[in-house]
Amino acid sequence: MGQWEQFLGPYKQAVDELKVKFRGMRAQFADSGVTSPIEFVTGRVKPIASIYDKSIEKGIPFEPSEKMARELQDIAGVRIMCQFVDDIMTVVNLIRQREDLKVIEENDYITHKKPSGYRSYHMIVEYPVETVNGKMTVLAEIQIRTLAMNFWASIEHSLNYKYKGVFPEEIKLRLMRAAEAAFQLDEEMSSIRSEIQEAQAYFSENKEAQSPNIRKEKERE
Ligand code: GTP
Ligand code: MG
Repeated sequence: MGQWEQFLGPYKQAVDELKVKFRGMRAQFADSGVTSPIEFVTGRVKPIASIYDKSIEKGIPFEPSEKMARELQDIAGVRIMCQFVDDIMTVVNLIRQREDLKVIEENDYITHKKPSGYRSYHMIVEYPVETVNGKMTVLAEIQIRTLAMNFWASIEHSLNYKYKGVFPEEIKLRLMRAAEAAFQLDEEMSSIRSEIQEAQAYFSENKEAQSPNIRKEKERE
């Protein structure tokens, strides 16, 4: 197990750093009074059991290796959730412009949804981490999706786990319908986007005006 921990160390560091950086982007938008295209960010290192399953599926020997690092591109995984579909391309462009990572692959499963009904934008990036043994570049998968896409994907993922990928017809049909409903939800929200954002801006200003700290500051003045 020690060998795996050593192998996965840089991936953990990459996930941690990328989470901080993408959360930082959200904070910068908020601080400048601009609505953030990023709603929230999550990340994980692929559990060893999933690495095992994937290596069997891909016919890669189950051991820490160059081959493993090259062929399993989602050992480090980061997810960025957006409120609106249009925000996704904003985030994609922000990522393309960054100088601390290199995009090596993009998959648009939004205009080309998967047969399952899955929608998301995927980017595979090379990300350098500084270790005590010098610089090491790891691959990371960034998935960018709306809250609705994320809701659907997380439900489908749990069911997939339960049924081991073989869904009863009834469930499959319901999932397809749910995917369609999630798509409709995104469409409806996009069409009233400016209304929603005005309301959210108003709400956050108001919240600030009522925040106890600011009130205290005002009292001191
Ligand atoms: P691998 O990367 O080897 O898994 O195959 P691939 O390159 O064809 O997959 P892709 O890059 O398209 O998708 C990889 C990741 O996207 C998965 O690990 C999931 O997180 C997510 N994903 C892809 N398809 C689905 C799907 O149908 N349902 C859900 N819930 N997630 C999916
Ligand atoms: Mg992949």
